[in-house]
Amino acid sequence: MRVLLTGSAGFIGSAVARALAERGHEVVGVDLLLPQAHGETSPRPGTHRLDVRDALAWSELLTGIDVVCHQAAVVGAGVTVSDLPLYAGHNDLGTAALLAAMHAAGVRRLVLASSMVVYGEGRYVCPEHGEQRPGARPAAALEAGVFENACPSCRQPLGWASVPEDAPLDPRSAYAASKVAQEHYASAWARATGAAVTALRYHNVYGPGMPRDTPYAGVAAIFRSSLERGEAPRVFEDGGQVRDFVHVDDAATANLRAVELADPVAFTAYNICSGTPVTIGEVASLLAGAVRGPVPVVTGQYRLGDVRHVVASPDRARIGLGFSATITPARGIPAFATAPLRG
Ligand code: UD1
Repeated sequence: MRVLLTGSAGFIGSAVARALAERGHEVVGVDLLLPQAHGETSPRPGTHRLDVRDALAWSELLTGIDVVCHQAAVVGAGVTVSDLPLYAGHNDLGTAALLAAMHAAGVRRLVLASSMVVYGEGRYVCPEHGEQRPGARPAAALEAGVFENACPSCRQPLGWASVPEDAPLDPRSAYAASKVAQEHYASAWARATGAAVTALRYHNVYGPGMPRDTPYAGVAAIFRSSLERGEAPRVFEDGGQVRDFVHVDDAATANLRAVELADPVAFTAYNICSGTPVTIGEVASLLAGAVRGPVPVVTGQYRLGDVRHVVASPDRARIGLGFSATITPARGIPAFATAPLRG
């Protein structure tokens, strides 16, 4: 197939490009090479340096394309509200422009990079009162070192359960809001045009080529960068936060399965995860242990925007996409401790 891949120079996009090419697909790579993600780079051979927001202007690249795989986005949690136009511009307007250009060019298949951040908090259960949807954790509770979400009825700590794709969407950051908007624009486009969208909700993707420690980086890169400097990873809260860390090569395989999906329906979202939850404390220990680095420090610090636990259900991706991760955190995280990071 001929696949137009946006964000082709990025951390996940590069892995997707490799996976597609290895399977014999023809890849047309588009990337804006934003300095905040790529540094001051010179043009890359095989990459069209273009802005997705201008997709209608470069839509001749869409001629003869079978599937668009849209990875380009401004990522991370956002640092200040002054970042709002950045997320809205690149992620929302960019996706809208791309969809309009795809329609004009007659391209009817989209694979969309989405994120688990669309769920906000994960799924919670109170042993006494059943399933609960906690709001944002109060600053006073976090300040007092109470990190677990509490049942609104009995105030007992809630236990986590795995999140299925039909869980309510509850974006809690500019990035999350932009990912929800991307899904909704794509779904509306599919409904209006008879096209098909496969949205891949990535959980915490890590692996070789991950960007270094920046205010926008995920925790695995932050811990990894601390260890490289000879410093202990600093674990926030009590280290008991649970996530699903999925290796970038597995995320690339999920994209390959989505691109090759035989009969995609109008809109389906899939959790892309390893299916093996780990705590942030365990991630820090696995990384530190692999390089015999300083023992992680649990700081009790917190970030107001952080959610407590997000754990994915891998079932729908296994059944609908034929995707199951092959790299467990126990194998992939120690290997990541010495893998090269991006510049
Ligand atoms: C992350 C991404 C999010 C992405 C999602 C799925 C960021 C900032 N967040 O969400 O955009 O969609 O994965 O791929 O990129 N922590 C520490 N020490 C630190 C930094 C963080 O202990 O130095 C803790 C945080 O408090 C949090 C956990 O690590 O509990 C995960 O943090 P992080 O990777 O930033 O964000 P996620 O919420 O998992």
